[in-house]
Amino acid sequence: MKLLGKVRREFSGYSILESGKRLLDRKPLQCSLYVTDRCNLDCAYCTEYDNSRPHPSLEDLKKWIRKIRELGTMRIALVGGEPLMHPNIVELVRYCRELGFATSLTTNGFLLTRKLIAELEDAGLQVMQISVDRMTPSEITKKSFKTILPKLDYFRDSKISLHITGVICADTLPESQAVLETGLSRGIPTEVRLVHADPLQRFRVDRGQREELERFIDSMVERKRRGEKIHTSEAILNYQRSLLRGEDVDWTCMAGYKLFFVSARGKFWICSMVHTDKHIMDVTLDDLYANYRKKSCQKGCGVYCAVSASLLVEKPVQVLGKEIVARAKRIPSMFRLSPDTDKATHSAAITNPDGAHEMNGSTKSSPSADNGVTLRESA
Ligand SMILES: C[S@@+](CC[C@H](N)C(=O)[O-])C[C@H]1O[C@@H](n2cnc3c(N)ncnc32)[C@H](O)[C@@H]1O
Ligand code: SF4
Ligand code: SF4
Repeated sequence: MKLLGKVRREFSGYSILESGKRLLDRKPLQCSLYVTDRCNLDCAYCTEYDNSRPHPSLEDLKKWIRKIRELGTMRIALVGGEPLMHPNIVELVRYCRELGFATSLTTNGFLLTRKLIAELEDAGLQVMQISVDRMTPSEITKKSFKTILPKLDYFRDSKISLHITGVICADTLPESQAVLETGLSRGIPTEVRLVHADPLQRFRVDRGQREELERFIDSMVERKRRGEKIHTSEAILNYQRSLLRGEDVDWTCMAGYKLFFVSARGKFWICSMVHTDKHIMDVTLDDLYANYRKKSCQKGCGVYCAVSASLLVEKPVQVLGKEIVARAKRIPSMFRLSPDTDKATHSAAITNPDGAHEMNGSTKSSPSADNGVTLRESA
């Protein structure tokens, strides 16, 4: 790829202009849609799968996707459960793209084949996150590079932008560094992040030793500042450090407003942890705007996509400024890239850290009050 192209990709989001527009109006930027509750794995820290439920039908999913688009949502993230288990996943991606969504998919990668990646690319999928927690599987999580490394080759000539994300807990921490190195050394934007807070104590994992976690977060901040492809913003790394230290962070959660979730039964969810019983088909823009407020569950919140988008909307100059500087530092290394890493530089392009997208806009004062939401009790 020509140097200019590389530089352009390093700074491009899906569309900075469109993202900016979404802040001037009251429409949502992003929706995460659970295309299924079913999963082929059972990670001990996860409460987001349920194999007792059937896949939602293609017809229902299309209806919900149309509604999500009618609300003005720009981006759709296909999640689960394991989205690749849905028999119509390729058609769903194609449908999202036909409606004009920027489209991403998060997967544990176990069902990825060369053929499926080619089909998803042909359907227009732009971004794929593969979740990798360890180098080798454990009782806690099977998501390891042992399974994923052989599949990375399938992306060699793919237009899909790939990034890798891992969860850090006591079980994975001894291998988190190796996970990060393995991704970065192949030129793939990679991040590992703290397991979510667990207020209802439903996870079957320990968080890990605080000092060690803090040292690891600090090392990621340093690497990010050096221009390495740590796939998260410095704001989110600092946020995670504050979580570990028990420090208060001043922010206003935009979940349920600028970003929201739709369950595999069509219910409108504020985020992955906070659910409502309202059906997506009944949601209005006023309903969304009503969620522009501080929330009682903010302290310790680990829904990093929501924190990230919220911090960006509130402090765009601060958050974006640092991201731009970090990416600018990658440019000199582009002169030295080998053909192999060139492909991965492409990957860094339209994938934005944390699903936090380049947004400009007002820094409105924080609204207050919390109501009408329930913390999820069961998976
Ligand atoms: C719920 S999974 C669904 C998609 C797919 N099954 C996968 O694992 O990538 C989406 C992401 O949430 C992460 N995740 C699940 N539970 C989590 C937790 N308790 N804390 C932090 N991340 C978590 C997963 O590792 C994955 O990256
Ligand atoms: S994190 Fe993903 S792969 Fe693991 S159990 Fe949850 S949905 Fe399945
Ligand atoms: S858990 Fe609460 S604070 Fe965190 S994203 Fe969800 S609604 Fe916002």
